[in-house]
Amino acid sequence: MFLQSLRDRWHEAFEPIGNLVQIAREPYRFLDDLRRRGGELAELRMAGMPPVLVCSEPETVRQILTGSYDQFERHAGGVELFVDPLALILTDDDHHRQRRKLLNPAFNAESVRAFGPTMLEIADRVLDGLPLGITFPLIGPMQDITMRVILRCLFGVAEGPRFEELRALVIEYLQLVFGPDMVALGAVLTPTRAHAALTRLSRRARAAAPNAPFTPSRLPVQRIADRLGRIHALLEAEIDRCLAEGPETRSDVLALMLRARFADGQPMSREELLAQLLMLVIGGYETTSLSLCWAVHCLVRHPEALARVRAEVAQVMQGGFDPARVRDLHYLGAAIAESMRLYPIGIGVSRRLRKPMRLLGRDLSAGTVIMLSVYLIQRHPSLWSEPDAFKPERMLDRKPSAAVHFPFGGGVWRCLGAAFAEHEMRIVLARLFTRFVVEADPEHKIHAQQKGITAGPSGGLPVRVAPIS
Ligand code: HEM
Repeated sequence: MFLQSLRDRWHEAFEPIGNLVQIAREPYRFLDDLRRRGGELAELRMAGMPPVLVCSEPETVRQILTGSYDQFERHAGGVELFVDPLALILTDDDHHRQRRKLLNPAFNAESVRAFGPTMLEIADRVLDGLPLGITFPLIGPMQDITMRVILRCLFGVAEGPRFEELRALVIEYLQLVFGPDMVALGAVLTPTRAHAALTRLSRRARAAAPNAPFTPSRLPVQRIADRLGRIHALLEAEIDRCLAEGPETRSDVLALMLRARFADGQPMSREELLAQLLMLVIGGYETTSLSLCWAVHCLVRHPEALARVRAEVAQVMQGGFDPARVRDLHYLGAAIAESMRLYPIGIGVSRRLRKPMRLLGRDLSAGTVIMLSVYLIQRHPSLWSEPDAFKPERMLDRKPSAAVHFPFGGGVWRCLGAAFAEHEMRIVLARLFTRFVVEADPEHKIHAQQKGITAGPSGGLPVRVAPIS
C-alpha cells in the first residue's frame, strides 16, 4: 500500500518531465505509445503546460477541426513565448476573422505565383553552393533557402548588407528563443508574461538608430531581448522605406499589408504589423525547411517515385524551367503531400473547449485543451491502407478529406502560408532532383526529433550530392 502510494507520487511528480524528454527525443514513437496506453482520447501531461487530451479518433477530430469560434478557441501550445500577443496565431473571434480577411489575399494562389521567380532564383543560387563529395546535413541549405525567400518575398528586403544583418539576427533570435533561457523564463513566469518581459527588455535596442553599431548583451535573457529590439528597429526602417517608395509600387507581403484596410477603413497599426511580420518568419522558416527535408528523405528511399518525379519535371518543363508551371507537377505535389502525411512537422494542432462537451463518452469541462493528433490520424490504420508506406499515388487518385490529411491544420485557423509553402517546396524539390543525384547516408538511421514546436529528421538529414552532368 505504502509502496504503491510512493510509486504513484513519484509518477505524478516526474511523468510530465519524462514526457517532455521523450517527446523531444522521438515524438512520433511517443504518440504511438500514448495511443496504445491511453486510447483515442489520451491524457498527456507535460512540464510547464496544462494537461492536454490527445485525440486520434477520426470522427471527433473532424468535428473539432471544422468547429467554429463559439465552440473552440485556438490553443497555441507555448507559442506565446515567442511571438507578440497581437500576432494572428494568438487571436480568436472577430479579431482573428478580420485579420485573416486582411492577410489572406497576400497568400492566395495568385499572389504566391508572383513570388515564383524569386523562389527559383534563390533556390538555384543556394543549390549552386551545395558541398560535393562529402556528407552534410541537408537542413542547412534548406533553411538558407527558406529564410532568404521569407526576407525577399515577405519583407521585400533586397539582398545586401541590410538583408544580411536582418537574416543573421532573425536566425540567432530563433535559435536563442527556442533555447533554455526562454523555456526557463516561461516556466517561471508563464509564456505570455515571459514574452512581455522580453519585449520590455528589448526597448533599448529598438530605440537605437538602425544604422548605429550593434553589440548584443551576453547576459542570458538580455541577449535575446537585444536581438528582438534590433530586429524591430530594422523592420521599422523597412516599413518606413516601403511607405516612402509607395506600397502600391511593390508586390511583397509587407507592401500588401501596408495597403490593406480593415472594414472600418483603418490600416494595421505599426505594432501589429511588426507582430505579424515576426510571426510569419517563425511560421514559415523551420516548418518549410523541415518539410523539405522529410520530402527528400522519402524520395531518396523510393527510387521509382523519384524517377517519376524527374520524368514529370523534364516533361512539364520542356524548353526551360518556368516556376509558374510547377502547379502542373501533379506527381511531385502528390509526393510532397504523402511525405507530409507520414512526417508532419507539427505533431498536432490544439483547441480549447469554450463550453462543456461530451466527447468519446467523457464529459469535458469548458477550458479543456484537446490536441488533434495530426501524426496519429495521418497514420490511422482504419483511414489509410498500408499506413506506414510511402505511396504518392494514393494522393493522385483522390484528394483526401481535410479531416484525415491536415499537415497545415484546419478550419478557421488553417495555416495562412500553406499555398506559399507548397509552391516553394515544388520549386526547390524540382530543381534539387533534376540538378543533383542525392544519396542518403547509410550510416545514419533517420528518426523524428522534436525541436521547439516542430518535428524534423535526426541529424538534420545527412546526405551526399553529386551534380547530374
Ligand atoms: C510546410 C510548411 C508549413 C507547415 C507544415 C505549416 C503548418 C502549420 C500548422 C499546423 C498551423 C496551425 C494550424 C491550426 O491550428 O489549425 C499553422 C499556422 C500558421 N502558419 Fe503555417 N505551416 C507552414 C508554412 C508556413 C508559411 C510559409 C507561413 C508564412 C509565411 C506560415 C504561416 C502560418 C500562420 C500565420 C499561421 C497561423 C494561422 C492562423 O492562426 O490563422 N506557415 N501552420
